Amino acid sequence: MSSHEESVLSPRVVVGVSGGIAAYKAVSLVRELVLRGAHVTVIPTASALKFVGMPTWEAISRNPVTADLFDGVAEVRHVALGQQADLIILAPATAHTLASVAGGFAGDLLGTTILASSAPLVIAPAMHTEMWENPAVRANVELLRGRGALIVGPESGALTGDDRGPGRMSEPADIADVALGALVPKTLRGKRVLISVGGTREYLDPVRFIGNRSSGEMGTSLARAALARGAEVTIVHAHFEASLPSGARAVSAPTAQEMHDVMMAEQSSHDIVIMAAAVADWRVREPSEDKISKAGQGDSWSPDLVRTPDILRELGEHKTPSQLLVGFAAETDADEKVREQSARTKRETKGADVIVLNQVGRKIGFGTLDTAVTLISASPQSLSFEGSKTSVAGRLLDALPEH
Ligand code: C5P
Repeated sequence: MSSHEESVLSPRVVVGVSGGIAAYKAVSLVRELVLRGAHVTVIPTASALKFVGMPTWEAISRNPVTADLFDGVAEVRHVALGQQADLIILAPATAHTLASVAGGFAGDLLGTTILASSAPLVIAPAMHTEMWENPAVRANVELLRGRGALIVGPESGALTGDDRGPGRMSEPADIADVALGALVPKTLRGKRVLISVGGTREYLDPVRFIGNRSSGEMGTSLARAALARGAEVTIVHAHFEASLPSGARAVSAPTAQEMHDVMMAEQSSHDIVIMAAAVADWRVREPSEDKISKAGQGDSWSPDLVRTPDILRELGEHKTPSQLLVGFAAETDADEKVREQSARTKRETKGADVIVLNQVGRKIGFGTLDTAVTLISASPQSLSFEGSKTSVAGRLLDALPEH
């Protein structure tokens, strides 16, 4: 792996935490970054430690934490952390810390680290609305923005007291998206990417459905990876348990038929179409308007099922030569060769450019954070990736054929 790839897949990230109540949300941010493969060093300010203590930062970052300028003097820690960082995130950034960073103050370890670094700086402010709107704070934010800092949020919503307004720190996943996205080359800038996500639900009656175990994790990870690469992203989602990236346009399509209708309507305005959703192959011919009662059904009962449209196949029939169509194939056969052959046949019969093969079973594939996939294209060579769904999603997008 080149050092550039390494800084994208497992970047060294410094998270500077300043003393605001949103420090508790920075714990989730650090966890999110670690789960996405980052090597995180937390630098809390003295007041941050009044909100969240040292053991929490050490446990969650899986790294030793120091807040003191005079710890690790022999290893010149006050500048080493900044020099080695691929990325610095300040979350939450209080009005005081914003002023201190804007003014170039070096009175604590966070200040010296930021000054010694040329890495991208991502700042997630959090404070009361009056403070956020104060001209001094506005001026500091604009100064930092002008120097290239990426400012994320703040969001509008409930603040610590009874008040509401702009000032809430952005959600940890959104901060992680912007921050890690800053390290990724914008290879998909100008491209429009359409991704189906989650598992469809085919209703028997108003309360029961036939569903599947898809969590939507792979599809949302692909959407995040596409956004980070500069693409415009549309997500068409059935049922999912993952969180949707806030930078994407989202359209709901709970059933196979609805997903079919939305995907067909959206196809022509997108350059890359990815069917990551687990679509039911069967639906109930006529869902009951009322809840079906078991009384009068006897000991067994079979719903009358009919085929749903094969969306991928229809997308394949309508695709233009400049569009790239990607499907997924979840295969359970224990023999790798059989799985790969079946995916190659699927690629040809459905008219997809690429099939991403993933082995699924009770314990792998669905609902897990790690995955192993094989990318199958027209080339006789296949490419295999494994790791977190975040890292696999990025590597899959980077390995797509030219289009
Ligand atoms: O044939 P199979 O279900 O294994 O193919 C899987 C691929 O086809 C996935 O990309 C899935 O999203 C898509 N699919 C579809 N419409 C269906 C069933 C699957 O688009 N009715």
